[in-house]
Amino acid sequence: MQEQLKTVARRLKSAGKICVLTGAGISKESGIPTFREAQTGLWANFDAERLATIQGYLADPPLVWQWYDTRRVGIADTQPNAGHYALVELESMIPSVVIITQNIDGLHAKAGSRDIIELHGSILKYRCFDAGHPQSDVAAGLKEPPQCRCGSMLRPDVVWFGEALPQEALERAFQEVGSADVVLVVGTSGLVQPAASLPDHGARNGAFIVEVNPEETPITEIADCLLQGLSGTVLPRLIAEMKE
Ligand code: APR
Repeated sequence: MQEQLKTVARRLKSAGKICVLTGAGISKESGIPTFREAQTGLWANFDAERLATIQGYLADPPLVWQWYDTRRVGIADTQPNAGHYALVELESMIPSVVIITQNIDGLHAKAGSRDIIELHGSILKYRCFDAGHPQSDVAAGLKEPPQCRCGSMLRPDVVWFGEALPQEALERAFQEVGSADVVLVVGTSGLVQPAASLPDHGARNGAFIVEVNPEETPITEIADCLLQGLSGTVLPRLIAEMKE
């Protein structure tokens, strides 16, 4: 591992642009369960059709509103961990660091990262159904969705199953990865498209691909290096190595 850390640290230090693709794994050490775990743990009964689709929301707005409201309140209480903070430090060492996240928890911004592309939206924000008017100041504890100033119903600003990713965010993500020197892939199972294609896009455009994950994933095959371990441990070690 030490040799691998040295090699990766050297690559990172000489990079002009680094893209970091993150998934649920980076927030695990902040106490937020990952999706694969969620299917067996606390959210074993999570019914995606009812809770995370447009059809589900329209069928029972109060149910879906309250479910997201409870999650939002829980997530608003969580704190970034050493992995998130290491990425903030990386920003101070490299000309350009772009965080591309599948997480909706807002923890990269809370840690202090500045250039963040949220591919799956944010549970901390809302927008209305009809016009997409953004709204972030919504009281907790409401029993049903409030209305937007235009009269439309508000919904969480997250990407639900069956929905397209925000076009602008997705286009920028591919563009940034296509011109990155290094792509760091942290804590994602690499199973959900289109985010899962980003590392491959980077590799085809000549980027050095580094994966940080305690387990192998489909991305491991195309990665130049797998730093096997928890992001809250591996990323700070990587930063320390860059300072050597
Ligand atoms: N550090 C790094 N990686 C970790 C850690 C950790 N401490 N703990 C777990 N992991 C890894 C797991 O090994 C797994 O590969 O994080 C990954 C989590 O995988 P998923 O739960 O599938 O999360 P993610 O890849 O973000 O899911 C993608 O799926 O359900 C959708 O929209 C949802 O954004 C989500 C998308």
